[in-house]
Amino acid sequence: MPRRWRAVIRWSSPHEGRRLLEQIREVGHPLVVLTGGDPIKRPDICDFIAYGDQIGLRMTITPLGTPLMTPAVIDRLKAAGLVRMAVSLDGSTAAIHDAFRQVHGSFDWSVNMLRYARRIGLSTQVNTTVTRCNFDDFDRLCALMVDLGIDLWSVFFLVVTGRGRPEDEIDAAQHELVFAKMYELSKRAPFDIKSTVAPPYRRFVLQQQVAERRANGGHGPRPRAIGFALKGGLARAPKSVNDGNGFVFISHLGEVFPSGFLPISAGNVRCTPLSAIYRDSELFRRLRDYAQLKGKCGVCEFREVCGGSRARAYGVMGDYLESDPYCAYVPPRYAKLVARGEAESPPEYFQRRMDAFLDDERRGQD
Ligand SMILES: C[S@@+](CC[C@H](N)C(=O)[O-])C[C@H]1O[C@@H](n2cnc3c(N)ncnc32)[C@H](O)[C@@H]1O
Repeated sequence: MPRRWRAVIRWSSPHEGRRLLEQIREVGHPLVVLTGGDPIKRPDICDFIAYGDQIGLRMTITPLGTPLMTPAVIDRLKAAGLVRMAVSLDGSTAAIHDAFRQVHGSFDWSVNMLRYARRIGLSTQVNTTVTRCNFDDFDRLCALMVDLGIDLWSVFFLVVTGRGRPEDEIDAAQHELVFAKMYELSKRAPFDIKSTVAPPYRRFVLQQQVAERRANGGHGPRPRAIGFALKGGLARAPKSVNDGNGFVFISHLGEVFPSGFLPISAGNVRCTPLSAIYRDSELFRRLRDYAQLKGKCGVCEFREVCGGSRARAYGVMGDYLESDPYCAYVPPRYAKLVARGEAESPPEYFQRRMDAFLDDERRGQD
């Protein structure tokens, strides 16, 4: 296991839940994210957090913004040993966020939870999912994050899976625009910013750092894979965290997935130890072997720090080793192949594969 990794759990019975926490602890010291749905609906949630904390895990939670999350509940979570609470905010105003979530009141409940957690000294994180619906709201979201005084802003990029629809995804150029805004904010914000299901943000940050150093005559901070900082004892993800690489998602039935957005199970913790699934399953091994990546991801010089979104490749083309379809960067090696007529241009490449995938899906439905 990498030194720092994450396990995301939707769990089953109290006994199995505790055994699972022990399995996780046996293989490392990861950040554990209790998620859902709404994990707060679990009646023994505080006991579960306390047990994880007692055995040396860093327990975090992503509850929904609802009236269930009263100050008293947040007090209890903190007392149990919770180290961070992450709340989703998908719009800068109640109108935008509530329309996105289709729940009236969600924005106010979410903001109040964050403000209360901050008041009692509980570390907070906001998760925002960027789609076409809130793309134009991103500047105002940046301002809101500063106002909320959070510790980490995790910017998710929609993946076509579950209820994520292709028509809601932003395109590759829009990804770059959001990356630019995130990077600019990261230089002045008092909190960390990371991308989720968009590893090309790491490539973007490196490119900016190199350009800034060059413009400064080679002076200034050396480019790093990404500016991971330690805040409140919670390290940010290691530089190459990606689906199945420093990250596992465990469902309430014990199925182990490379991420919450890549719905292929590599095994079940009820029959196989988590460590064995993570280390030895063919799926996880292939996902970590970036030499197997296809298309322009396969020849990209940023491959080892990025690796492209495996979930997005799977969602859009049905192949988790495919090139990331929403990365705008064209590696020079790939451009040379195209110029020599040895590879298709990126638009042709992706279009052909997406069409083939859709045809396959249609045939499967017939
Ligand atoms: C596991 S969810 C946390 C669940 C939590 N109960 C909530 O929705 O706030 C973490 C984040 O993933 C985001 N998310 C859900 N489906 C997604 C998808 N298909 N692509 C990208 N992000 C997604 C959610 O908006 C949420 O902010």
